[in-house]
Amino acid sequence: MANSFGITVSRHIMDSQRLHPEATGELSGLLSELIVAAKTISAEVNMAGLADILGMSGKTNIQGEKVKKLDEFANNTIKRRMASCGYICVMTSEEEADIIPVADGCEGKYTLAFDPLDGSSNIDVNVSIGTIFSIHRRKSADKPPSQGDEADLLQKGSAQIAAGYIIYGSCTMMVFSTGEGVHGFTLDPSVGEFYLSHPDMKIPEKSKYYSVNEGNRRYWADGVRSYIDYLKEEDKATGRPYSARYIGSLVSDFHRNLITGGVFIYPCDSKDPTKPYGKLRLLYEAAPLAFIVEQAGGRAITDDGVRITDIIPDSLHQRVPLVIGSKHDVDMFEKFMNGKKEKK
Ligand code: AHG
Ligand code: MN
Ligand code: MN
Repeated sequence: MANSFGITVSRHIMDSQRLHPEATGELSGLLSELIVAAKTISAEVNMAGLADILGMSGKTNIQGEKVKKLDEFANNTIKRRMASCGYICVMTSEEEADIIPVADGCEGKYTLAFDPLDGSSNIDVNVSIGTIFSIHRRKSADKPPSQGDEADLLQKGSAQIAAGYIIYGSCTMMVFSTGEGVHGFTLDPSVGEFYLSHPDMKIPEKSKYYSVNEGNRRYWADGVRSYIDYLKEEDKATGRPYSARYIGSLVSDFHRNLITGGVFIYPCDSKDPTKPYGKLRLLYEAAPLAFIVEQAGGRAITDDGVRITDIIPDSLHQRVPLVIGSKHDVDMFEKFMNGKKEKK
């Protein structure tokens, strides 16, 4: 039974705002608009098997990937709602080649980067998918109202003002952080409200799960292979072997690892010479989830040990290798990549 007397996400946002007398309410407004977009997408995802919304749209995106109808629906829903919300000055989407301007007269002080629907390959098979978002303050916050530009979007992850995701799974959940911990809200579809269900989420420091696409093993660096082999060895003292869990939707793999503990790895590989830095995108996937995991006590690094939130993006669709999850497990990965294996 849903707790309809619980704390709604809007009340949570307003309560947090009250702790900051200098706040103008614009971030709260932005998040509220995003939540409406998320509910719209959630309703469509839940109807996917009935509405004519499964399958391909017939288009190819900037990443060279086939666009599904639901990808397109989610992208348009967020774009249209946020373009006129008045709180952002520019957007960028995983699905679009260029920056997305906002409506004239609606320019605000924040920027928005989003992956409208993460886990596209799982859309048609009823497996959890999600939306990821990342919010920065525009570079010159005191500029007169004007459109933002690419430079406003190319900021490092540690400068995020807020980041989060909505997962459309056995229930719809929104998980986000404004830099004051990570909080999770579950949608009660009968009321259309998100209620606080997971306050102050913390990722277990050490886990027993790893998430990686082992089909790519032959394309990995030696350090990655040795690390995965290590996790599979038997050693009761260190809780090995670990179990493998790989869904193929980053949001879902991340969400499970956030709750149960775990490490997700998408390393550099030699599979596709046009994607030497792995598959995942810095602005839409790696940086927002890195912000969340750090707020929850975990770590996120590249496979050569660079903190994800320290990377200054050089382009909108830049890809990065990603190792993200429980702190101990990411630390151990780093040791393997440095060639310093310590069995602890
Ligand atoms: P998207 O659907 O937004 O394009 O992202 C897909 C990503 C990510 O969700 C997932 O972790 C990864 O692709 C899976 O890649 P592989 O199929 O190569 O394992
Ligand atoms: Mn994605
Ligand atoms: Mn996507």
